[in-house]
Amino acid sequence: MGKRTLVTSALPYANGPIHLGHLAGAYLPADFYVRYKRMRNEDVVFICGSDEHGVPITIAADKEGVTPQDIVDRFHEMNKKTFEEFGISFDYFGRTSASVHHETSQDFFRVLNEKGVFKKKSETQLYDEKAKMFLPDRYVKGTCPHCNYSEAFGDQCEKCGTSLSPSDLIEPRSMVTGDKPIYKETEHWFLPLGDFQDDLQAWLDSTENWKPNVMGQVKSWLKQGLGDRAVTRDLTWGVPVPVEGFDGKVLYVWFDAPIGYISATKEWAQQQGDPDLWEKYWRNKDSDLIHFIGKDNIVFHCIMFPAVLMSYDGYILPKNVPANEFLNLEGQKLSTSRGWAVWVQEYLKDFDPDLMRYVLGTGLPETKDADFSWKYFQDHVNGELADIFGNFAYRTLSFTSRYFDNKVPTAGDLNEEDRNALGEIDRLKKEIENLYETFRFREAIQKSMNLARAGNKYFTEMEPWRLRKDDPERCATVLNVCCQITAALSVLFDPVIPDACLKLREALNIRKAGWADITGQILKAGSPVDKGEILFKKVEDEAIEAQRKKLEEQSRAQEASKPVLEPIKNTITFDDFSKLDIRIGEILTAERVPKSDKLLKITVDIGLEKRTIMAGIAQHADPKKLPGKKVAVVANLKPRKMMGVPSEGMILMAETPDGDFMFVTSEADNGSVVA
Ligand code: 2FM
Ligand code: ZN
Repeated sequence: MGKRTLVTSALPYANGPIHLGHLAGAYLPADFYVRYKRMRNEDVVFICGSDEHGVPITIAADKEGVTPQDIVDRFHEMNKKTFEEFGISFDYFGRTSASVHHETSQDFFRVLNEKGVFKKKSETQLYDEKAKMFLPDRYVKGTCPHCNYSEAFGDQCEKCGTSLSPSDLIEPRSMVTGDKPIYKETEHWFLPLGDFQDDLQAWLDSTENWKPNVMGQVKSWLKQGLGDRAVTRDLTWGVPVPVEGFDGKVLYVWFDAPIGYISATKEWAQQQGDPDLWEKYWRNKDSDLIHFIGKDNIVFHCIMFPAVLMSYDGYILPKNVPANEFLNLEGQKLSTSRGWAVWVQEYLKDFDPDLMRYVLGTGLPETKDADFSWKYFQDHVNGELADIFGNFAYRTLSFTSRYFDNKVPTAGDLNEEDRNALGEIDRLKKEIENLYETFRFREAIQKSMNLARAGNKYFTEMEPWRLRKDDPERCATVLNVCCQITAALSVLFDPVIPDACLKLREALNIRKAGWADITGQILKAGSPVDKGEILFKKVEDEAIEAQRKKLEEQSRAQEASKPVLEPIKNTITFDDFSKLDIRIGEILTAERVPKSDKLLKITVDIGLEKRTIMAGIAQHADPKKLPGKKVAVVANLKPRKMMGVPSEGMILMAETPDGDFMFVTSEADNGSVVA
C-alpha cells in the first residue's frame, strides 16, 4: 500500500444545481486524480459536501421567498445525486448543517479564541437602514478599488480575484434595497493574517509542483502584506458564534466551510466503524492533503485555512492546491443568472457521463481559462473516443473472437514493430504517471489517447486480415499485441472514462486489473475474450444542434423572466420640457393621511416657500424617515385637492423595474432649478 492521501473538492454552495464550469474546476480533475490513486491501490479518501451557510444561501432564499433551510435541503440532495450519476466518486459527501460540523467548527473557534489567536475589534460596517441589517459579503456590491470593476462583491472582486471587505468598495450599494448603506458600529473577531506571514511563506517555500497561476497569486498577496480578516458576521443563518451574549452573530462562512472537509472526514470515519480514523488523514505527517478548487477560492485555501490549521496545532497543511481557472461556454463567460450554463442533470438526460468526462478532461482550464463548445464536444467524441479508442478496441476484440475462438492468441517471436508497439505501453505509462502526479490531467489524457493511436496504427500497418490467410502464426502474434494494448488502455483510461473501461475489462476478463498490471503482458495467451461491442456511439449533428438550441432557449427564457424596463415615451420638444419648473426641496414633515392607505401628506421647503404635497407613496416610504430628505419637486403643477387637502406640487420618484419607488435626490440647495 502506498502513502495516504486525503483529497478534497471545494464544497459547492447548496443554492443551485451543478454545471459544467463546476465540474471542470474542482470536481472532475479531483476525480481523475482519486481514481488514478485507487487504480494504484493507494490509500486515498475523497471528501466533499454541501456548503450550506453564508450569504449565497440567504440571498437565494430571499429571492425565492422561502427559508434558507428549504434551499439547502433541496440543492444538497440534488447535487449529491448529480455527482453520483456523473461518476464523481466521493467517499463521503457531507453537509455543513450537520451537527458534527457545527461542533467541529465551533471547537476550532473556541480553541483559537482561547489561545488568543483572534483580535476582537469594534468597527463600523455597512448597514442598510431600510432593511435594518448589516451588509456582509455579497449583500453589498460596488466598484473594486484594485481594478475598477463596478460589480465587485463585498467579499471578493470576481474580475481580479482580490479578496475584499465591504468597506473597501467604492460607491457601495445594498443588494437588498439598492440603497446607499450607512456605517454602523459592530463588534467582531478577526484573524490577524499578518501574524502568519512568515509561517505561511515558509510553508509555501517548502511545497513542490504548485501550478504557477496558483503560486503566483498567493505570493503576490503575501507581498502586498496580509491584513486582519473578520471570522464572524452579523447574520442569523450559519454556525452560531460559541460565546455567550453574542446572539445574532455567526461564524463567517469562509471560516466554517473549509473545516467542513474535516467534519465530513469525521462522518466518513464513523461510517467506516472507526470514529478516530479521520485523524490519520488530518493529523499525521505521513498523509498528504490536496485541495481541488476553482481559482476564486485560492485565497481561502492557501492563506486563511492554512493559518487556521497552523493555529490549532497538530494538523497537516495542504501539499498542493491545484486550482483551475474558469471554463467559458461557446465563447462567452458562463453565467447562471443569464442562463448561460450547461446543467449536468440536463446533460445526463441526453448523453453518457464518459463522453463529457473525456471531452472536458482534454480541455480543462488548468493554466488559463478554456472554452467548451458543443462542436468541440462532437469533434472529440467522434474523432477520438469513437474513431481511435473505440475503433481500436472494437477491431481487436471482434477479430480475436471471430478468428481466434474468443481467446487471446499465442504470440510467436516478436519483431521490432511488435516490440515498439508494446514498448509504447511502458513508455507512455511512465509519462502519464508523472502527469497525474503533477496535476497535468489534460496532457495525461492526450497521452493516454496516444496509446490507442499507436495501437490503431499498428493494427492498420500489420494488416492482420491479410496475415490471417498468408501467415496465421504472425497474425496470432499481432493480435496478441493488440489485445495487450487494449488491456493496457482499459486500465490506463479508467480514471477518465470508468464506465467504458470497466466494460472493456469485463470483455477481456480482467475486471480487477490495476495500475501495476499495465505492462505488455496483462493477458495470458488462451484467456477468454468476449465479442467486441461499440463503446462510443458517434454524436450526430442534430444532437449538437439540439444542445445549442436548448442553451439559447434557456438563456432567452432567463432574460425574459427579468424585469422589463418601460419603453421610452413619444418625443417632445424642448419648449414642452421647459414648461416644467422642477426644484430641489427638503422634506420638513411627513404623515399618513387618515383613511387612505396610499397617501402621505408632506411639507417641503422649496427655497422660495414651503409647499404641502399629497404623495401616493405610503406603501413605499416610511414617513418617520422622510424629514431631511432632499427631493425633486414639480413646482408649477396646477394645485388639486386630494382627500380634501390641496396638493401644491408633485415629488418626483423613480419607479424601478421591480415596482419599487425611490426618490430622485440631489445635494443642491433648496430652490435650485433642475433643467
Ligand atoms: O465558492 C464556493 O462555491 C464555496 N462554496 C467553496 C467552499 S470550499 C470550502 F472551503 F469549503
Ligand atoms: Zn477587481
